[in-house]
Amino acid sequence: MSKKSAPITNNFCPQSLFLYGTYQEDGTPNFGLFCWLSYYWDTELGVMACIGGKKLTKDRILAAKVFSANLVTEKMLPMADYLGNKAGYEKDKMDFPLETETGKILHVPVLSCSPVSFELEVSKSVPFNDSTVFFCKIRNVLLEEALTDSGKSPEERIQSIAPVLTTCETYFSWDGKSLGEWGIPKESFPFVR
Ligand SMILES: Cc1cc2nc3c(=O)[nH]c(=O)nc-3n(C[C@H](O)[C@H](O)[C@H](O)COP(=O)(O)O)c2cc1C
Repeated sequence: MSKKSAPITNNFCPQSLFLYGTYQEDGTPNFGLFCWLSYYWDTELGVMACIGGKKLTKDRILAAKVFSANLVTEKMLPMADYLGNKAGYEKDKMDFPLETETGKILHVPVLSCSPVSFELEVSKSVPFNDSTVFFCKIRNVLLEEALTDSGKSPEERIQSIAPVLTTCETYFSWDGKSLGEWGIPKESFPFVR
C-alpha cells in the first residue's frame, strides 16, 4: 500500500458551504455558516445536516422544524465567514443591512444574494452526545434565473455563480485557488465586530 495513515480529519475532501437561515423568537432572521450538509434518498431527495454543540441555529431548528440552506459564493464569502465566526447568542450578530425574503413554501428566511436556496423541513432529528443530525425534506428549491437558462452548459452556469469550497480549514475558489483560512475573509466584511 503506497498510502500513509493520517490523523482523522476530512482534509482534502472539499465541501460546499451553506448559510442556514432561521427566524428568531422575535421574528428577525439569523444566519450561521455550515459545511456538514449532504444528501440522502428516501423516495425523494433529502438533505442531512449535522450541527454540533449549542448554537442559536440549532435551537431555532429544534423549535420551528424548518430552515433554509443558502449556497455560499465568492461574492458572499466575507459575510459568510463573519456569520460562521460570531455566535447568534451575541445580540448584535445580525445588526447589518441584509436583504432577505420569506420562502415560497415554508416560513424561513432566504438570502436574496445566494443563487441557490433550499427550503427544508425536518422529518427526523437524531441527537448524539455532542451534535444533532437533521434529516430534512426539501420542500422547495429556489434558483436565480441565470441558473435556469438551459441554453447554457452546467459548466458556464456554475462558473457564473462561483461557489466557495472548503477543506483544510481553508476556503477555495471554484477553480481551486485559496481564498484564505477560516476567520480571514471576515476581516474585509465592513460590519465585523
Ligand atoms: C467554514 C465553517 C463551517 C462551519 N460548519 C459548521 C457545521 O457544519 N456544523 C456546525 O455545527 N458548525 C459549523 N460551523 C460553526 C458555525 O458557523 C458557528 O458556530 C456559528 O456561530 C453558528 O451560527 P449561530 O451561532 O448563529 O447559530 C462552521 C464554521 C465555519 C467558519
